[in-house]
Amino acid sequence: MALLSVDNVTKRFGGLVANQSISFDVGDNELLAVIGPNGAGKTTLFNLISGFFPPTSGTVRFDGRDITGQPSHKVAAAGLVRTYQLVQLFSQLTVAENVEIGSHRVTRGGVGGALFRPDWFRREERSVREGARELLHFVGLEGQADLPADKLPYGRQRLLEVARALAAKPRLLLLDEPAAGLNTQETEALADVITRIHRGGTTIILIEHDMSLVMKIAQRIVVLDFGKKIAEGTPAEIRAHPDVIAAYLGGTEVVDA
Ligand SMILES: Nc1ncnc2c1ncn2[C@@H]1O[C@H](COP(=O)(O)OP(=O)(O)OP(=O)(O)O)[C@@H](O)[C@H]1O
Ligand SMILES: [Mg+2]
Repeated sequence: MALLSVDNVTKRFGGLVANQSISFDVGDNELLAVIGPNGAGKTTLFNLISGFFPPTSGTVRFDGRDITGQPSHKVAAAGLVRTYQLVQLFSQLTVAENVEIGSHRVTRGGVGGALFRPDWFRREERSVREGARELLHFVGLEGQADLPADKLPYGRQRLLEVARALAAKPRLLLLDEPAAGLNTQETEALADVITRIHRGGTTIILIEHDMSLVMKIAQRIVVLDFGKKIAEGTPAEIRAHPDVIAAYLGGTEVVDA
């Protein structure tokens, strides 16, 4: 059974059809990429899947359950966690605190716990702190744990966002252009992190413009253009697909792989 099923999903904004009758499945522990020119509807698709807003029509199923139109905190609680196209960190908090906040959905926490600090609360606090350190190590930020997040170079802020998303222990992780604005070296570090997350058993959907990254790590690719799915297949199939080549050559971008 698919972990995620997107079935005939449409999203209209007034007269604009941002997603039109899109369907695809994502299997357990798959690494799927979603590509397409600017404005193709990729982020809209993530917004629909993650409950940021409901689709106009169609169904989203996660782990066999209908999650269509459920609010994002509920969807996240079920194990479906996303990152955003633009960096969204708590800039005044430290790097480690930003990751600790990510574990919110898997802890009991609460104001009562914080006020009265029972044993379970202190144990939980300690495990949250240790978990955050491990995740920072995992993405290579262990040396910067106590810096304010906004003191990190941009490329490292993107890694921090990935670490924060992992703190929520996702079964399905949605990454919206995590390599945007990264240099070659930073992109390689990110590719390595994504590959290790995937090997650890997490299912991933990756929106990305960097074609060499997509072709290197994706197992399957869904291509959107003007709100429609125009192709789906392996990296080799997508690279040779006439509609994909036309979509990219007709726009401002060229598939460089
Ligand atoms: N909240 C919104 N209200 C109105 N229109 C929107 C909204 N969100 C997206 N759109 C429009 O829907 C279309 C698809 O946008 P979307 O952000 O999904 O594209 P994208 O594929 O993620 O593009 P990019 O590669 O530039 O990030 C665009 O025309 C966009 O202007
Ligand atoms: Mg986008």
